[in-house]
Amino acid sequence: MVVEKVVIEESARIIIPEKGVFYNPHMRFCRSLSVIAADAFATVRGKDLRICEPLTASGIRSIRYAKEVKHINSIISCDANRFAVKYAIRNVELNEVHDIVKVYKCDANLLMTSFSRRGQRFNYIDLDPFGTPSPFFDSAVRAVEHGGLICYTATDMANLCGVHPLSCFRTYSSYPIAKCGYVHEVAIRVSLFSLASSAARHGLYIKPLLAHFTRHYIRVYSQLFYDESEAKKIFMENVGFLYHCFKCNNRRLSKFRNIEARTCSICGSKMTVAGPIWIGKIFDKEFLKAISKSMEKYSFSDQEKIVKTVKLISEEASGPPLYYNIPKMCKSLNVQMPKINALIEELRSYGFYACRTHFDPQGIRTTASTLDIIKILTSQR
Ligand SMILES: C[S@@+](CC[C@H](N)C(=O)[O-])C[C@H]1O[C@@H](n2cnc3c(N)ncnc32)[C@H](O)[C@@H]1O
Ligand SMILES: [Zn+2]
Repeated sequence: MVVEKVVIEESARIIIPEKGVFYNPHMRFCRSLSVIAADAFATVRGKDLRICEPLTASGIRSIRYAKEVKHINSIISCDANRFAVKYAIRNVELNEVHDIVKVYKCDANLLMTSFSRRGQRFNYIDLDPFGTPSPFFDSAVRAVEHGGLICYTATDMANLCGVHPLSCFRTYSSYPIAKCGYVHEVAIRVSLFSLASSAARHGLYIKPLLAHFTRHYIRVYSQLFYDESEAKKIFMENVGFLYHCFKCNNRRLSKFRNIEARTCSICGSKMTVAGPIWIGKIFDKEFLKAISKSMEKYSFSDQEKIVKTVKLISEEASGPPLYYNIPKMCKSLNVQMPKINALIEELRSYGFYACRTHFDPQGIRTTASTLDIIKILTSQR
């Protein structure tokens, strides 16, 4: 006999078996922020959403979109697991959203491919796989309409953060970097390179709107546009390599075509090269404003954390790529750790942009160069 349990998550009440159908209560924050992002995106686009959630498991995500986002036209969900589909269909009916959500038993890539003709494409695709979303990028970019959005979760952090670099290279065609002090941002940039490559192959370009690292996963939201010549240009301008100096924490981003000398300009050491990665923007200020507005419509259990995260990211959106982990810098300089707020104030007093980062409570994002930070930390400035 199958032992079942009832789960209540925000507006949704679902039934799942004890075993065999995936449901992770720790992803509630991710799903709630997705609801807000969907509401914001529908508002920005001025269009009702045609959502595809091709890895649906219990159906919880699709059900929450259907019940909690006002501007939904339809949701097509699927799962390859027969047992999951049975429960997803039952949960959709239980939540009385069967007019909006249709659940299929299908392979995710097959489903998206069957919606890849113009006129049938989705304007919002949510990829929430086990591990890496990369096997689904090619079909997703073909199934998204011009100006539509693809969001994805990646939980294969050991790959993306450089613990298994060859596995990362095989999965994302990008060589990661471990222990550089800002690995979670690099993880997002590695995954975005993979999405941008799939998009470019099909004549689309990406415009990342929002990205965050939480607990054990990264989550990325990007808009996509069909334009072959822009796609070439944007790809070449926003894809490149990361040079990192493990001796003094210096870092440099370089465009794809500009292969640079690997000598660190500060300490003369040989820098480690990672990539290709997405070196362009990962946050969009206008979208973050829309998110902040949509956020006011909701009062989720995780609301406080959501508000805090969005506020931090909104500040980060005005800063440059690659944050600094201050304890790591202090350790390599053998100096005492300052208070993060005091350091931010000091950087601002010199005219630099400086703020905290949601990636790391001990991190800062600033326009100051590594050398400027070193000088401040060693009080030479
Ligand atoms: C992480 S779970 C999805 C969780 C769900 N989105 C949520 O928010 O609770 C991943 C699901 O993808 C399904 N899956 C894995 N590979 C698939 C494929 N190629 N096509 C369709 N479903 C697949 C698994 O059966 C599993 O139910
Ligand atoms: Zn150096």
